[in-house]
Amino acid sequence: MSLLQQLKNNPFVCAPMAGITDIAFRAFIREMGSSFVITELVSASGIEYGGERTLKLMAFEDSQRPVGVQLFGESPEIVAKAARFCQEQGADFVDLNFGCPVSKVVKKGAGSAILKDLKAVEQMFRTVKSSLSIPLTVKIRTGWTYEQRNALELANIAYQEGLSWVAIHGRDRAQAYKGKADWEYIGEVKSKSKIPILGNGDILSGRQACERLEKYNLDGVMIGRGCLKNPWIFQDAMAIWQGGSPSENRDFMAVFAKLKGYLESFTDERLQQIQLKKFASWFSAGYPGSASFRKKLFQTKSVDHTLEEVQCFYQSLKGIQQADTSDDGFLMGGHG
Ligand SMILES: Cc1cc2nc3c(=O)[nH]c(=O)nc-3n(C[C@H](O)[C@H](O)[C@H](O)COP(=O)(O)O)c2cc1C
Repeated sequence: MSLLQQLKNNPFVCAPMAGITDIAFRAFIREMGSSFVITELVSASGIEYGGERTLKLMAFEDSQRPVGVQLFGESPEIVAKAARFCQEQGADFVDLNFGCPVSKVVKKGAGSAILKDLKAVEQMFRTVKSSLSIPLTVKIRTGWTYEQRNALELANIAYQEGLSWVAIHGRDRAQAYKGKADWEYIGEVKSKSKIPILGNGDILSGRQACERLEKYNLDGVMIGRGCLKNPWIFQDAMAIWQGGSPSENRDFMAVFAKLKGYLESFTDERLQQIQLKKFASWFSAGYPGSASFRKKLFQTKSVDHTLEEVQCFYQSLKGIQQADTSDDGFLMGGHG
């Protein structure tokens, strides 16, 4: 099935997140209903140097397909070479990171810095596209600053250069993670563009994802932090989109068993425990007693001990609805 057909069948996609969407989490979230998965940003120069750590970031398994590798870099030639390498490694598509606001990245002219220069954008698209036979996509911010918003112009260039879609995080670079994503602007870009557009930013429920998809006539919705608070968000969105209602059954222990299984397959015990604590703490957002649960979690000394606390807390939640946590300032920093 083509990538765009996949998106038509399921328009709800997990956003790339550095330090989170590693091989284990991608396997997990794909099984939890994300249409496809994308690695965190990977340095094109890192691939050029063949660094072991870099290559580990882009590793994936067949069961995760479709899987895209996200690249960042400032030199079109080096990014094109890295993209070609990703294709040779069996990636289903390559995604360009034009959204990273982090100073270390933008200082070199990579990530969102390229948004300042649409000629450079065109050059990057053209050079990378010509090195690939698999699809090329891009994830951007609305612009460098509010005054310099140019997602529409960029989308037109992406269309001309044969990219498959543009995913827009509805904040400009200057905003970092402050304020709210501007979905009206994303909708405006969609209404004036020929290329498929995915909207992204601040989605916390399946219902919200469906509302945005329909209101702005989008081709897809990307969800990042929302799936770290509610791992059922993709399933909820699909159920609503297909005319049904989300399941009331929140079987946390089944979710943790799944997560633990993937962590065991891909990571050592030390990391398994760190990750389990992290996810257990995030998934508890908006439930009564989550603050003291987090305190207990951070004192646990082994995977089994962590899971005992997890079982004790989540079993006490039966039938309790998750409260709205949209203003809690959760993970206000990242690479896109
Ligand atoms: C911890 C963290 C790491 C991120 N890393 C990446 C990344 O590697 N590549 C990218 O394009 N965006 C990255 N982002 C941005 C997200 O993909 C997304 O655009 C942003 O979080 C807004 O969407 P959300 O409100 O649904 O989380 C990251 C965000 C966070 C919170």
